[in-house]
Amino acid sequence: MYTSAPQLWKRHRDHVGVSDDEVGKTYWKVANGIRLTGMPSYEHVLSTTQMWDVALLLKNADQPLPDPVTAILKQPLQ
Ligand code: HEM
Repeated sequence: MYTSAPQLWKRHRDHVGVSDDEVGKTYWKVANGIRLTGMPSYEHVLSTTQMWDVALLLKNADQPLPDPVTAILKQPLQ
């Protein structure tokens, strides 16, 4: 029924997902959704801090993971 949801972790030449967009633009899309698509608004679901967290995460999707995160991922499953 809807436009396909974007692959936000997919590399397109020099960027990944929306990492080339202004972080405020991504924040706005997360907060307000995108009308006439399946993209919902998270304004009443997430706190302002959580929406900035997810927008910053997507902004940095083209960066290597920080060392502490890599260390956790390398740990064997318990
Ligand atoms: C926290 C969860 C989500 C985040 C952070 C997120 C983020 C985004 C972003 C940043 C875009 C814009 C992509 C661009 O500008 O190229 C987008 C578009 C879109 N999202 Fe989401 N999204 C979320 C959840 C969802 C869910 C649950 C759905 C569907 C059930 C959805 C469906 C879509 C669709 C269809 C578009 C494309 C709209 C268009 O073509 O203009 N998203 N999303």
